Amino acid sequence: MNIKDFAVERYFARYEFTAQYMLSSSDCDGYPMNYVLDLASDSEKTSWDTLKLGYTETLGSPTLRKAIKQHYKTIDLDDIVVSSPGEANFILMNILLNKGDHAICMSPMYQSLYQIAKELECSVSFWKPTEEQNKWHYNPADLKKLIQANTKLIIINFPHNPTGFSPEMNDYLEIIDIARHYGIPIFSDEMYRFLTHNEHSGLPPMCDLYENGISLWGTAKTFGLAGLRLGWLTSKNKEFLKKVESFKDYLSICNSATSEILATIALNNMDKFVQPNLQKIQSNIVLFSEFHKRNNHLFDFHKPKSGSTAFIKFKSNETSFQFAEKLVKETGIMLLPSETFEYGTSHARVGFGRANMPEMLDVFQKYITKHYNS
Ligand SMILES: Cc1ncc(COP(=O)(O)O)c(C=O)c1O
Repeated sequence: MNIKDFAVERYFARYEFTAQYMLSSSDCDGYPMNYVLDLASDSEKTSWDTLKLGYTETLGSPTLRKAIKQHYKTIDLDDIVVSSPGEANFILMNILLNKGDHAICMSPMYQSLYQIAKELECSVSFWKPTEEQNKWHYNPADLKKLIQANTKLIIINFPHNPTGFSPEMNDYLEIIDIARHYGIPIFSDEMYRFLTHNEHSGLPPMCDLYENGISLWGTAKTFGLAGLRLGWLTSKNKEFLKKVESFKDYLSICNSATSEILATIALNNMDKFVQPNLQKIQSNIVLFSEFHKRNNHLFDFHKPKSGSTAFIKFKSNETSFQFAEKLVKETGIMLLPSETFEYGTSHARVGFGRANMPEMLDVFQKYITKHYNS
């Protein structure tokens, strides 16, 4: 089997553990273990202290699923299957798509959300954004135009990695109306849920609004707990979830026992994780906006509405890949070029979840001043 490289992951593999500064990470700094355990209730502490490292339940422990359920309006314990996000995505596509089917996916996008469909020999159309009036926008009318007779899945991701876009509620409902009208399931990747930068708390999960909707959420982005490798699919489609459970027997079978307890503690104390993450992201966005003002001859920047990333656009003649390679070699700052998103050669992702952003921007500024005559 010839699997195409996951370009973002391959680029990270080159630099994530060797470059000094990660300016493109989509996750926030990971919380220390003690931070999580100090928040445990008495019963969670007992579960941790007496934990036996055997197999766990395929669907995820009832305690963990109860902790998940509280963050949804209409979801029951048996509407949840816990897995790793990547595995969940792989299983979902294998269940819902067959060779020759058509899927629609946002672009730019986390590659596994469309690559697996392609590996299954499906055709994929990309729902592209406009970049006007200093903001990103995905227009539901453009999505509608992409629907074909054999469209079997619509794949969306809000808050969106990498643009930071989130639709207004009326556009979100319009997407659902379109899918419902044509009888197409929506796979909604909500990995950045609750990372919203204005007064309202963000969009409701798809599984709460659309009977044919499947939501994916996990611990990596919202919580800053990527190392747990945990996520969960939620849906009211019981037949689909039964198939997910059966498919999982061929892959991980069940989840990590330690991760399940730590995720339970995090879900039961969500604000303690989300609020510090949001504060860090928001103050880094302010710093980056100032940095942009000083360097707007070099790149455009649309402030993200949500999530932990933005997608900047270079104005220089070199490709973003060339820019990123020179930058990391000279300064140790890793910037993810848009070539890794198969989205042209002019953009790059910036991540706001790292505490050392001030230092990174100082180093970056010196580099720009030296080479781009700021
Ligand atoms: C949109 C999106 N979905 C899924 C994932 C996968 O999450 P995890 O790293 O927890 O497997 C990522 C990670 O970057 C992502 O950005």
